[in-house]
Amino acid sequence: MNVKKTFVAATMLAGTMTALSVMSAGAAQAQGALVMYCGVQEEWCRAMTTAFERETGIKVSMTRKSSGEIYAQVKAEAANPRADIWWGGTGDPHMQAAEEGLTEEYKSPKMGELQDWAVRQWEQSKNRTVGIYSGALGFGYNTELLQSKKIPELKCWADLLKPELKDEVQVADPNSSGTAYTLLATIVQIMGEDKGFEYLKALHKNVNQYTKSGAAPAKAVALGETTAGITFMHDMVTMVVDKAPVKVVAPCEGTGYEIGSMSIIKGAKNLDSAKKFYDWALTADAQKLGADAKSYQVPSNKNTPVPPQAPKLTDIKLINFDFAKYGSSTERKRLLSKWDNEVKNLPK
Ligand code: F6P
Repeated sequence: MNVKKTFVAATMLAGTMTALSVMSAGAAQAQGALVMYCGVQEEWCRAMTTAFERETGIKVSMTRKSSGEIYAQVKAEAANPRADIWWGGTGDPHMQAAEEGLTEEYKSPKMGELQDWAVRQWEQSKNRTVGIYSGALGFGYNTELLQSKKIPELKCWADLLKPELKDEVQVADPNSSGTAYTLLATIVQIMGEDKGFEYLKALHKNVNQYTKSGAAPAKAVALGETTAGITFMHDMVTMVVDKAPVKVVAPCEGTGYEIGSMSIIKGAKNLDSAKKFYDWALTADAQKLGADAKSYQVPSNKNTPVPPQAPKLTDIKLINFDFAKYGSSTERKRLLSKWDNEVKNLPK
């Protein structure tokens, strides 16, 4: 019960903080401060904002949203951009924005310190987005609920289709969430498009809610509101660290992963501050803030220690994820509208 109270309090606090940052955004922009759209967990967004302000004296107005939501907002504001920097969230909408000319080209002096996968993201986007962290997709389940329902251990994507899990699986909507888009692209790459969509339709029968944010199902699993949830594995690990009865699973068929990314908004009103943030966010010290905020992704700077809690990517059966294809504007739009038409509104 205490665990439940802590989660509820944290969620309420995060909501209030977001509202405050939204309210102050206009004022901050007018004063020439940095306007940031942040795509990771609220706690990490806050830690980055505070540390950058402390180090540079540049005020930051931060708004946290999910990956697809930030993309939609950046696109809607293209004629008169409000934000300067887009930090975090899955790479696919960053890639799409790059292709559509919504973000700026930039080469940071810190590029030499980054892992190959982070640099490759930058090259594939024609210098418009860079990798800041990586993490594998998976799922988690509430061990107490599974036991009480007498369901055997869940190990594979296929296990999430069990009839006993009817209305017991939670996952986000891929339109708003980069996590859920990574699931869509992963399943299509593992099973092929036809079989993949058959899988997603069957999964739909067990889904109790398509949430807006990708990490929300991890909290729901921890609270016992759903038996299983599909998220990045590191988001489930945060629940385990908080002592929730959660088991984290790397699916037996193999799984996809993300390259969390960062981009400078085209036409940024505070371009110098955006570049300062960009260079700073790639440093080993700035990247250490993730683990301090209980975010356990693999950092992109080679000198940042990988948090011991981070799922070991070398131990997970990772697919050869085609980031260029699944981040392309045409493919992303096509898959999302196919999911909307064929899966989202299916009767159960
Ligand atoms: O911060 C947690 C995280 O899972 C990131 O690793 C990821 O980039 C982001 O959230 C995705 O969020 P969403 O699915 O809400 O777009």
